[in-house]
Amino acid sequence: MGKELLIRNVKDDDLQKLLSIHRDAFEGYMNTKLGDEYIIKFLKWFTLQQDAISLLVECDENIHGYVVGATIGYGSLLTKAIGKTVIKYLIFHPWLLTNKKILNNLLSRIKNIFQPTSQPNITLKDLKGISLVGIGVSKSSRGHHYGSHLIKSFEEKAREMNFDYMRLSVYSNNTTAISFYKKNGWEFMDEEAGLSYFYKKLF
Ligand SMILES: CC(C)(COP(=O)(O)OP(=O)(O)OC[C@H]1O[C@@H](n2cnc3c(N)ncnc32)[C@H](O)[C@@H]1OP(=O)(O)O)[C@@H](O)C(=O)NCCC(=O)NCCS
Repeated sequence: MGKELLIRNVKDDDLQKLLSIHRDAFEGYMNTKLGDEYIIKFLKWFTLQQDAISLLVECDENIHGYVVGATIGYGSLLTKAIGKTVIKYLIFHPWLLTNKKILNNLLSRIKNIFQPTSQPNITLKDLKGISLVGIGVSKSSRGHHYGSHLIKSFEEKAREMNFDYMRLSVYSNNTTAISFYKKNGWEFMDEEAGLSYFYKKLF
């Protein structure tokens, strides 16, 4: 019998399972070092916004991955919503601030609250864009096209929501993700400070 694959919106009940998928998919990343409460609030935030997308992929009742995204400029709103959780965590884990990546990221988030910036976005300036903020598939589920199903559904949903284009940033050394995005039709836009920017038009 064939496996039944389902892409659906993330619900509150899924968040604990997504937490373990996130920890597995992004092992070693800065955003897995800030505590479970932060990760849950981060994932939940996308389920609460009108102009956001949060989808997961389920197959035979197991969740294998998720994708989240929100209108470009979401960063300052997200920081305002979950910043306190991060600060609280850092008070009890101050040594994390010796990690340059964490420190720089926090400083740029704080700066972004007061002075929101839109990242490299040369050709698509006056159009309505959505940022794909994160996509993750559990290590043991990779290579089965769960990621591709997720990103295609993200694209369909963004189109339904009348976005004109999608964009994302990815560490330039994340060659797996970069070939994954290219394979799914995303185009390279720019590179800055170790991050590569990709976009895909929806018209
Ligand atoms: C990127 C990621 C989501 C891909 O998920 P996936 O379900 O394994 O990807 P798919 O099976 O749909 O792969 C689709 C295509 O991407 C490319 N790709 C996927 N994994 C690859 C790898 N390890 N090396 C090179 N190309 C790869 C291939 O072109 C593949 O097509 P093919 O199978 O026909 O060759 C997954 O590797 C992941 O969760 N990585 C960790 C988290 C991360 O880095 N997220 C992106 C930054 S937010």
